[in-house]
Amino acid sequence: MARLPSLDIRTSAGASEAEVVLVFQDAGKKAVAPKGSYEEAVSRLRRSGPFAASVRQSLFIRMGGRKPAESVLFAGLGQASEVTEEKFRQAGAAVWARLNAEKCKSAFVRADAFTKGPYFKAFAEGLLLSSYRFDKHKSQKASADASTMPKIHFIATAGAKAKFAKELARAYSVAEAVFITRDWSNEPSNFGTPEYYASEAVKYARKFGLRCRILSERDAKRERMGLFLAVGQGSDREGKIVVIEHRPRGKAAKNAKTIAFVGKGITFDSGGISIKPSKGMEDMKHDMTGAATMMGAVVLASLWNVPNRVVGILAFTENMPNGIAVQPGNVIRSRAGKTVEIINTDAEGRLILADVLDYAHTFKPDVIVNSATLTGAVGVALGRYCCGLMGNDDALIEQLKAIGDSQAERMWQLPMYDEYFDDMKSDVADMRNSCNNSYGGTIRGGIFLKQFIKKGFRWAHLDIASTCYDLEFLPYAPRKGASGSFVRSLATFAAEF
Ligand code: BES
Ligand code: MN
Ligand code: ZN
Repeated sequence: MARLPSLDIRTSAGASEAEVVLVFQDAGKKAVAPKGSYEEAVSRLRRSGPFAASVRQSLFIRMGGRKPAESVLFAGLGQASEVTEEKFRQAGAAVWARLNAEKCKSAFVRADAFTKGPYFKAFAEGLLLSSYRFDKHKSQKASADASTMPKIHFIATAGAKAKFAKELARAYSVAEAVFITRDWSNEPSNFGTPEYYASEAVKYARKFGLRCRILSERDAKRERMGLFLAVGQGSDREGKIVVIEHRPRGKAAKNAKTIAFVGKGITFDSGGISIKPSKGMEDMKHDMTGAATMMGAVVLASLWNVPNRVVGILAFTENMPNGIAVQPGNVIRSRAGKTVEIINTDAEGRLILADVLDYAHTFKPDVIVNSATLTGAVGVALGRYCCGLMGNDDALIEQLKAIGDSQAERMWQLPMYDEYFDDMKSDVADMRNSCNNSYGGTIRGGIFLKQFIKKGFRWAHLDIASTCYDLEFLPYAPRKGASGSFVRSLATFAAEF
């Protein structure tokens, strides 16, 4: 069943219920009348003022039997001088929401509204990403399949069709990958077990032609991943590590670098013996979103056939308190050989990542990037409009930051001064996993991970705890549930590194 709506490129409008008209704003923040059929209508709106053409604003007018369509949907883009891809993405989201609200089943847009290819792609992304529903566990499905969704046609000249088709395919690939990330993140943890994600990864590997290998707990034992195993020790469900790999095909394979994408996949974080309060604990089904994000990024990198080898290493396990669960004060030996005193079993993400980051070095990566819902503190430090970014290489940080900006998936660097590690020394082990004060919690998480990056390896860490679900302000993401943020940026990084 196709879940993505049908968008296509045509040379004539045919019979569509509505025409979508994108409208800019002038310096006085009033709608600029487009040349042609709607010039008069917009001029009038401009005088009376209900439609200022600001970004996300839309107006739906039923014309009653007029040509070329029954209705017109005006969608604002803000000031022409300040236009960005993101504004087109948000306009796409506004158009999708409005067409659905008006129960309009078909519409067309003249493709010459997009002066640049990336604007068209971003607009299509906004439409496609907005169509996402997570209703697999509802008995009444909101969207049985794509056949009931609005159909949107882009009208282009025969000569321009191929160019637009290429951009449209890119937008579809983004939506396909982001939907995998969202689906994984949203899955309740009674379904979304480590076993489940491992089998899903195998399924997608087959579908997209990726290499995939699953490490069981036995394999993890053989690899001496003491920390990974300690976290899962209190759960009856077996942990799994997914290794999923894109290898560039054809000409793209020349000079390929190796990128390791490492993800935190705690399928449910109860906190373990250091148990969390019950309020909001249900959100901890999302604690595998770092892994889900890396999965989406590997899939997208493969759909784009990026010229680098991309190895996703996704560590799935569950943090639960039972009779043999790891206890505060326990000392565990990591794969790297360093010992860790576990002060707080709720600082579990850094523990599993320590072992898989160490394991990631065996792929001889030119760069290691990890993403994780690591600390609640990142929301305190940065809020929800950018994720936390840390690492050991300034050029790498700059590159990630620039790509994040270009994709409207912003990242902000936090410092990694050595002193932050001073409070994480242990009396009985090489370090402890948490600190007895609550200062700089996100940096503590990052600096702990840094202990497991070997000399000469470039590394960056994304703390996405406050930016990967419930982004109700982002028009092309669901109000509740996973946003799929950072998939675009990470795949772009894989393409450009
Ligand atoms: N998974 C949580 C972080 C989190 C919090 C993600 C809120 C999403 C929303 C992580 O494992 C955790 O519990 N971190 C602790 C660290 C502390 C014990 C040092 C935290 O943030 O309180
Ligand atoms: Mn935790
Ligand atoms: Zn966690």
